[in-house]
Amino acid sequence: MNEVEIKILTPDEWELYKLARLNSLKESPDSFGSTYDQEAVLSDAEWRSRLDLKFRDIDALPLIAELKGQPVGIAWGFIHKPNLQVAHIYQMWVSPELRGKGIAKSLLLKIKTWALGRGCSLMALGVTTSNEAAVNLYRKFGFIAAGQLEELRTGSPLVVQPMTIELNSVV
Ligand SMILES: CC(C)(COP(=O)(O)OP(=O)(O)OC[C@H]1O[C@@H](n2cnc3c(N)ncnc32)[C@H](O)[C@@H]1OP(=O)(O)O)[C@@H](O)C(=O)NCCC(=O)NCCS
Repeated sequence: MNEVEIKILTPDEWELYKLARLNSLKESPDSFGSTYDQEAVLSDAEWRSRLDLKFRDIDALPLIAELKGQPVGIAWGFIHKPNLQVAHIYQMWVSPELRGKGIAKSLLLKIKTWALGRGCSLMALGVTTSNEAAVNLYRKFGFIAAGQLEELRTGSPLVVQPMTIELNSVV
């Protein structure tokens, strides 16, 4: 997968991000707490501002995987104040035709390196329990179940398992 490049998204790349994120919500509706309908109505300014980390005063790592200029994967690392010890992982998605080639693992490794650089001691995420590919991805990476199951969305029969991995200084 030498041609796939993983980059940090800038506010000017909001259209690329919008395309990938809406694709992910449409293609994998059971993988995310948010929905295509909720995000398809966001304005251009809102898409741009999501990536404007300085303006939002947040510490985050919005990643995009690109193949020949086309978005084929996304993932975010996100540190919420005031708990600066935990880096959360959100929005992980890889385009169906490029799955099984290590792109998600590469995205996770980039977030892990970033989180270590920020001095985090833990990475955390939530995964729908029926999502075998994602559960396996995170388990293989070293995440373990942590905490009680939560509803994916209010009223949804799907449940999300929180998972964490402790970080150490060796990448
Ligand atoms: C889950 C997802 C991100 C994995 O992306 P990917 O790029 O295909 O994953 P990778 O190729 O990096 O795989 C890494 C490991 O994950 C596991 N894995 C990935 N896909 C799998 C599958 N279909 N079945 C079982 N295990 C799988 C394997 O352990 C794999 O390691 P291996 O190839 O050495 O056995 C992708 O399937 C996806 O985008 N799914 C829809 C969105 C989603 O579920 N996002 C997660 C939200 S929490």
